[in-house]
Order: sequence, then structure tokens, then C-alpha cells
Amino acid sequence: MISKQAVNIDHFKRSWSYTDSARNAWSEIIEKYKENNPNGKILLPSYIGWSANEGSGIFDSVLKSGLEYDFYCLGLHLEVEVADLKEKVLQNPNQLILLVHYFGFVDSNYKEITNWLLENNVFFVEDCAHAWLSDLIGGTCGRKGNYSFYSLHKLLPISTGGIMVNNSFAGNKNNNPFFELNYDLLSIYTIRRSNYKYLLNLLRDIDGIDALYKDLEDGICPQTLPVIVEDYDRTSLYHEMNNTGFGMVSLYHTMIEQLDGFQSEAAAVLSHKIINFPIHQDVTESDIDEMVLELKKILNA
Ligand SMILES: Cc1ncc(COP(=O)(O)O)c(C=O)c1O
Repeated sequence: MISKQAVNIDHFKRSWSYTDSARNAWSEIIEKYKENNPNGKILLPSYIGWSANEGSGIFDSVLKSGLEYDFYCLGLHLEVEVADLKEKVLQNPNQLILLVHYFGFVDSNYKEITNWLLENNVFFVEDCAHAWLSDLIGGTCGRKGNYSFYSLHKLLPISTGGIMVNNSFAGNKNNNPFFELNYDLLSIYTIRRSNYKYLLNLLRDIDGIDALYKDLEDGICPQTLPVIVEDYDRTSLYHEMNNTGFGMVSLYHTMIEQLDGFQSEAAAVLSHKIINFPIHQDVTESDIDEMVLELKKILNA
């Protein structure tokens, strides 16, 4: 059973809470940590700025919390000195560790550091104030810490705005009234591409089904998988597949009347033969296996 389009409204939604600024998100996270660790300690990177106008985006929240703090070493290129970090974490594994993705960049040892923190069950937070597009679009940070936070005005022409991301909780409690961008677009993109390739490969063996796009180039996120149905009535196939629970669509089956008589293969031929398979983010590979079995049954009947 596959629906025509994705219907699960919480699927791949990340837990976002909107705040006025990154520092307010960071303060909320520290408060959550404090609930379980009233005498806890915060371990910070050794590069934290201050200005008379803005104070310190990172440190003001730490001071406000009243918790103890310490620093781990960063090198000349802001790289984490991993041995120093590990040593300081092991002295007290209940600390809150802050990783900062300065200027949108991610430490070259990010994978090693975060895997080690996860293996050791350490509570850590990713400061994506500058790096939230590296998280949302690049997928290179922001998803492994217990929490992350963003500063919207660091990258957009707006005056305020922050987001607290709870990575241990899927779904959303606090919707932005204007728009919802907290769907995990990177995961949706990745699954749609993966489903497309999986289905394309199975369809290669089926005579009379000819994929419109036989290559999926980097950077393309498919909406559906369109094919030309060569030796079978497209409309019958549409109904038979839908009747057995597989949500096929035919998006452009009827052309506008202004195209009547216009000499184009797309309008004259393709529109009568096209059908689109679902590959959306609710679809699994075993759903696709079942769909292809049903397709073969219908075509061979
Ligand atoms: C690395 C970093 N984290 C957090 C902040 C705080 O950002 P906001 O101005 O949204 O509170 C800043 C900026 O001050 C920053 O540079």
C-alpha cells in the first residue's frame, strides 16, 4: 500500500522551538541541562567573543546560569584539540559540552569527536548560530548533539530570531505561525533520491515501461518517477494499480485545449502514455518491491 503523496505530517519533522535569538535558545538548553544537573558544569571552546553593544552571544547565557564552566583548547584554525577535549570530558562526564561551528564551518574531526561523545553518553550541544545552512542544506553538522541552536539574523536580512533544535525528539510542539520549515528537508531529499534509484533499477527489467529520466543527476530531488507506458493502456494501468493500493498519478494526462493541433510529441504522444510512480518519503523499499510485483502481475495478465 502506497499513498499518492506523502501524508504523514510528522514524518521527518524536527523539533524546533522559536526564540528571539540564538543566545536565548542556548539559555533554554542550559536550563534543561540544569534541571538534571543543578551542580553541573559547562565545557566551552577557548574562543568566545564579547562586544560592548552585544555582550557575548555564547558566554552571557553561561554566566546567567550560574553554573561552573571551563574551556577546552582550540588551535590556530579554531580546530578542536581533541586530546585536551577528551581529557577534560573524562574528568567529569556529566558536563555539558558546547561545540561551536564557527563561521559556518565544521571541524575536520567532527565525526570522531561527536561519535566519541555519543559513545560516552555525554550531553553536548552544537552552536549552529553561523552554521544552520550547513546543517539544513549541507547536512554536515547540527544533528548529533542533544540540542543545536541557530541564529536566523546571522544569515538572513532580518533583525532577530533564533531556533532551538531538540535532536532527541521528533515532531514539533511550537509552530511558527508564518511558515513551517522544520521538515527535515535533507532527509526527505535523500529518501526521495534513494527510492527513485531503487525503483528505476527494478523497472529496467520490465518491457514496455520506459523511464523518462534514466539518470538521477546530483542535486536533483524527484517528485515522482515518470515513465512511458508502451504496450498497455495507461488509464487502465492507473486504475488497476490504484485499486490495489498503489498510488499512481498521471499529472499531465490532458493538455490545455490551446495545444490542440500543436505539433509536439510531448502533447500529442507523451500525455497519453505517461504515468508517475510514487517515491515519496513515506515509501519504503519493501513497499516498492510490492508495487513492482503488482505492476508485473497486471502487465503480464
Ligand atoms: C558563535 C555564536 N553563537 C551564538 C551567538 C548568539 O547569537 P544571537 O545574536 O542570535 O543571540 C553568536 C553571536 O553573537 C555567535 O557568534
